[in-house]
Amino acid sequence: MTKAPTNNAKLLAWVDDIQKLTKPARVQWCDGSQAEYDACIKELLDAGIAIPLDQSKRPGCVLFRSDPSDVARVEDRTYIASKNKADAGPTNNWIDPVELKKTMTKLYDGCMAGRTMYVIPFSMGPIGAPISKIGIEISDSPYVVINMRIMTRMGSAVLKQLGDTGEFVPCLHSVGKPLKAGEKDTKWPCAPIESKYIAHFPEERLIWSYGSGYGGNALLGKKCFALRIASVQARDEGWMAEHMLILALTSPQGKTHYVAAAFPSACGKTNLAMMLPSIPGWTVRTLGDDIAWMRVGADGRLYAVNPEAGFFGVAPGTSKKSNPNALISAAKNTIFTNCVLTDDKDVWWEDMGVPAPAKGVDWEGKEWTPDCGRKGAHANARFTAPAAQCPVIDPKWEDPAGVPISAILFGGRRPSTIPLVNEALSWEHGVFMGSSTGSETTAANIGQAGVLRRDPFAMLPFCGYHMGDYFAHWLKMGQKLGNKAPKIFFVNWFRRDAAGKFMWPGFGDNARVLKYIVERVEGKDIAQKTPIGLVPKAGALDVSGLGMSEAQVADLIAVDNEGWKKEAASIAEFYTKFGDRLPKALADELAGLNKRLAGSCGCSCG
Ligand code: OXD
Ligand code: MN
Repeated sequence: MTKAPTNNAKLLAWVDDIQKLTKPARVQWCDGSQAEYDACIKELLDAGIAIPLDQSKRPGCVLFRSDPSDVARVEDRTYIASKNKADAGPTNNWIDPVELKKTMTKLYDGCMAGRTMYVIPFSMGPIGAPISKIGIEISDSPYVVINMRIMTRMGSAVLKQLGDTGEFVPCLHSVGKPLKAGEKDTKWPCAPIESKYIAHFPEERLIWSYGSGYGGNALLGKKCFALRIASVQARDEGWMAEHMLILALTSPQGKTHYVAAAFPSACGKTNLAMMLPSIPGWTVRTLGDDIAWMRVGADGRLYAVNPEAGFFGVAPGTSKKSNPNALISAAKNTIFTNCVLTDDKDVWWEDMGVPAPAKGVDWEGKEWTPDCGRKGAHANARFTAPAAQCPVIDPKWEDPAGVPISAILFGGRRPSTIPLVNEALSWEHGVFMGSSTGSETTAANIGQAGVLRRDPFAMLPFCGYHMGDYFAHWLKMGQKLGNKAPKIFFVNWFRRDAAGKFMWPGFGDNARVLKYIVERVEGKDIAQKTPIGLVPKAGALDVSGLGMSEAQVADLIAVDNEGWKKEAASIAEFYTKFGDRLPKALADELAGLNKRLAGSCGCSCG
């Protein structure tokens, strides 16, 4: 074992316990240096696990192929093991924590045999910032080490910040594949699905992950810590941990507003965060593409920080059209997973916007040609790229104070009923909108495509406690923020016409909706009241140059009363899940919506 570079007694004791339990061949404390990163990559290349890429085309980049059984987050093997089942709520899997620890301790016993146990100190948020938190991941995967160095601030500086008595979230990870003496490692070690566990012990602020080496199952700073455990910390400490991008929108006059937006997975958060606006003079800069930690600042406004330091983006569909800035972010110093390896040692994926290579090797390591009838990249193939490489990264992205949020957006893939943009009538109404967020499933989701999945606040797989209590926490934050609260909007880029065609061009043209939103934030009288909220008045949306008729724009924001009655009934059914933990304010909002739709509210909204 290298000498422990810390005197933190709690950390030393934990590392010692885990070493005794998992019995690795050696222990390595990670310092986060480039030399350490390079040495890990070299070891992985030498072992034939990492696949080299042409360094003149992709400097500093490598490719990995995962095991076909280990390609995505495993939601049905993910547990919130709170002491009481009721505290995990109806949207989480639960196992009694004592039982789960017993099961997992057996699995962990000797599970790192023949491997290196890495101790990875990391900070979620800029090191030392008031909102930041420290985690220590113990992992037997060098792939995790290199990914964590991109996705978080990692290494010696974090241990220094932790000091002798600092607190940290212990995050234990093993791929679950011990090596017998002399046994050759597989290319992507992992355990079978039935022994994978992604476990969270919220009262202890503890994460145990076993059996998977992929993404959010293994890079424990991301979904496990920054969302599931942090959502519990945020509830208890009076702040918010959200599945949201953060962007800065600047007008031609140089005025900047910061916007946070929650969309379910696969609805284009990364694309929106890095968008190239189609309207002249407007710019978008990125602060984060997946997670926002937000707290009330000294001036009473809501301030957001991106706790991550990199992007773990979905590769398929990322193209010059959908997200040129993501392509540039991933041009160097990037880890690719499950993409196609081209003959000239570059990477390729479906809908990259460049011609497919004549032949290559697919994500399963099989020879591949464009006409072979199989996709070359896995639908959840990823790039892990440093955020600092994004050409439109905002200068304030690492500001320890965060940025003040002017507007919060919710959205999803909704082919009908939901208008392009709809402003909440109040914070409570906005929380109602967030709680009823849903999206049509796509081919990238497991299960049937084209069905509506309710995904409140885009947090369904990520909330570490009872979702009804989480709604209550949002309501409480609104009381704290009072008239300094950001305005809330629901957006839908995916409405289709009767022929099934998208009614809105999307991508860079979404800036037109952002422009309208900040104009509303600045108090422009360009919205009209309807039973469902405030939608743009005729002529309020800037559609110049799009060639859309007035009628087409009107259709995009039209309120379909009958469709909304069905929507309200579907929300009512969804709400029954939460029983008496559904806050009364939300039941009142639903009742208010029904009243307004029936035209019996007594106001002029209809
Ligand atoms: C992600 C997700 O990977 O939300 O960010 O699934
Ligand atoms: Mn996400």
